[in-house]
Amino acid sequence: MVILQEGQVYKIITDKTQKSMTFYITYVDRLKDEVFVKVFSPFSLYEGFRISTIENKTLKEIIDFEKIKNFYFENIPFSIKNKIGKLLYQKENHPICIVKNKINDFFEKYDKFEFQNPMVSVRNNFDNLLIPQNHPGRKESDTFYSENKFLVLRTHTTAHQTELLKKKITKFIVTGDVYRRDTIDASHFPVFHQVEGVNVLGSVSDKVVIEHLKDTLSGLIKHLFGNDVKYRFIDEYFPFTNPSFEVVVEYHGIEMEVLGSGVIHKDIMKNCGLEGQNGWAFGMGLERLAMIFFDIPDIRYFWSEDPRFLSQFKAGEFTKFQPYSKYPSAIRDISMWITEGFEDNYFFDLVRDLSENLVEEVSLTDSFTNPKTNRSSKTFRIKFRSIDKTLTGEEIDKILNEIKQELINKDYEIR
Ligand code: DAH
Repeated sequence: MVILQEGQVYKIITDKTQKSMTFYITYVDRLKDEVFVKVFSPFSLYEGFRISTIENKTLKEIIDFEKIKNFYFENIPFSIKNKIGKLLYQKENHPICIVKNKINDFFEKYDKFEFQNPMVSVRNNFDNLLIPQNHPGRKESDTFYSENKFLVLRTHTTAHQTELLKKKITKFIVTGDVYRRDTIDASHFPVFHQVEGVNVLGSVSDKVVIEHLKDTLSGLIKHLFGNDVKYRFIDEYFPFTNPSFEVVVEYHGIEMEVLGSGVIHKDIMKNCGLEGQNGWAFGMGLERLAMIFFDIPDIRYFWSEDPRFLSQFKAGEFTKFQPYSKYPSAIRDISMWITEGFEDNYFFDLVRDLSENLVEEVSLTDSFTNPKTNRSSKTFRIKFRSIDKTLTGEEIDKILNEIKQELINKDYEIR
């Protein structure tokens, strides 16, 4: 008889959906007869498990499912975990840090915070910011959770707003790495950087706060883009501010959203012990700005450790990136039968997890449902290209086969 071992990896196949998930036993409490497990798979937990080891030995007779009380749900792939702690925003000659410092220069009199650990409570990231339970940003397909959904990789630096306000810190800038599952293309990466700014002005009217906010952000935009910049405020909606505004900047004839902002919601002020006071907040991404200011064509460059990239930048200087030769790309398609609940983000994530930055773009090229069988199929096109080397056909096919194998493990049928 096999005894469940701590640290051992098992595979579960859910009876209902036939999807599989991989987990390992973190702890077996033999006194209470409980087993604690950590889940790796991006799929949600379902009731009713069949269970087998990786070697496909049946464990059903060994494990009593009633006794598995605690599942540590986690959907953070290794490719994301690898990025935690890189601290690009603290490397003084890195473009992200150069942009951060430029912004910090403008907010000279504000307290600056950089919380190096991006793992925050769900409460700080969502609940305390009045983000409703059904908000799309909370979906497992969009957000990286850990510890049974008690912790989350912050999806925005706004996550630190209420903890600072509760400490009566009321005029500050927070910079950090933030995490969101996303499509794969030149301007989207699941890890990026944001700056959050807050200023509580005192017992003043919304009108005074809005005026101060717009003055400050106008100054910031000019500080970043130059005095001739064309920009405008448009009305927006965020759960944590009311009213809310977005700033749109016209750059080379193209309008782009550069930040979100607004008057901090009265309930947030009250919950933080600041009833009667009034203030504003804004949040801004750094990658898009850095791509523009340094002429960087692909967001993956920020993660490059190639000296040909890194040596081009110097603290305080906004020089244009000189591209070194672009390596050739290779296209591969994967067609598969999908089942209910399949999200494109799962596919993007799988590709990211198994391809380590070697994929430039993934797109959905075809999608249909067979009217007779009612089965649905999707075809994804994967464009492989390294920014650091020429990929061999062998390397590409190895990754492709790993992706296919993982899909098969998850009970999808490759067409
Ligand atoms: N947290 C928002 C985001 O990530 C940006 C934001 C909007 C921050 C409005 C704010 C705000 O502080 O007031 O998209």
